[in-house]
Amino acid sequence: MLDFKIASGRSNLPLARNIANYIGVELTDVTIKNFSDGEIWVKYEENIRGVDLFIIQSTFAPADNLLELLLLIDAAKRASAKRVTAVIPYFAYARQDRKDQPRVSISAKLIANLITRAGADRVIMIDLHSSQIQGFFDIPSDHLYASPVLIRRLLHLGLTNFIVAAPDIGAAKTARAYAKRLNVDLVIIDKRRPEHNVAEVLNIIGEPEGKNVIIVDDLIDTGTTFIQCAEALKNRGALDIYGVCVHPVFSGNALEKINSTQALKKLFVTDTIPLRAESDKIEVVSVAELFAEAIIRTHDNRSISSLFEIER
Ligand code: R5P
Repeated sequence: MLDFKIASGRSNLPLARNIANYIGVELTDVTIKNFSDGEIWVKYEENIRGVDLFIIQSTFAPADNLLELLLLIDAAKRASAKRVTAVIPYFAYARQDRKDQPRVSISAKLIANLITRAGADRVIMIDLHSSQIQGFFDIPSDHLYASPVLIRRLLHLGLTNFIVAAPDIGAAKTARAYAKRLNVDLVIIDKRRPEHNVAEVLNIIGEPEGKNVIIVDDLIDTGTTFIQCAEALKNRGALDIYGVCVHPVFSGNALEKINSTQALKKLFVTDTIPLRAESDKIEVVSVAELFAEAIIRTHDNRSISSLFEIER
């Protein structure tokens, strides 16, 4: 059996440490530095020849996080690691996943190409913006779901008289899975994007009046979608509104906007991206155990599908 090791870039060290702790190993000793012009330099400080290496790195902005992952993969291959798995808790550039207008890039495919060409032998990701991104990789890719962990937390709230809401059509499939698992009804918000980072609620499909609501989305970027959805539901007579999102991208002043909106009572996010500040309104639910189990099972060539058994 191959040795296995876990290394991490600098984008999400707290999650990487928690994953390593759960498995009961130390993170592999890696030095990562920036030159004065910002260029990144990486070096494995221990022998990784013949090793089954898992590299943990979220690729949220800045793009240096992606570059750091590519350099770590490249260095590992050149140091004769036997197999390199890129463990990517947040896979950025995923939203540009098709040519939805002329002369645009399909960034998700480009990033998949870069990771593969750098030398990754396989990838593990969680709650991709769209599942078909798995197919952009011509190497084995495992797609985890945070829903079992988040649903467990939601069940502990002991909520009654509630429904689940999808903030746009794209989120409907995931939200429906939550609703099914929680055995409640689903409402869908009909959202329009007149331009980048701007969202408009056009219609609410379903009946939120007199109900507590849990809004489910894969990510929050500017917070516009989530907050407008919460406000629209409130205006239609919803009671308490909770939110669940896997990836807290929180660009610009999204965190402040979420903290200050009266429409949202509590938001549950995961630790795929570290929060830059704590918030009374936001609770972080860790996906470290899920990734740790996926890593152990991948190393042992065991199935990982039982980690995300949820009807979709
Ligand atoms: C859209 O398809 C995504 O699932 C999110 O709803 C969206 O990217 C969130 O963006 P923002 O927070 O900027 O509205």
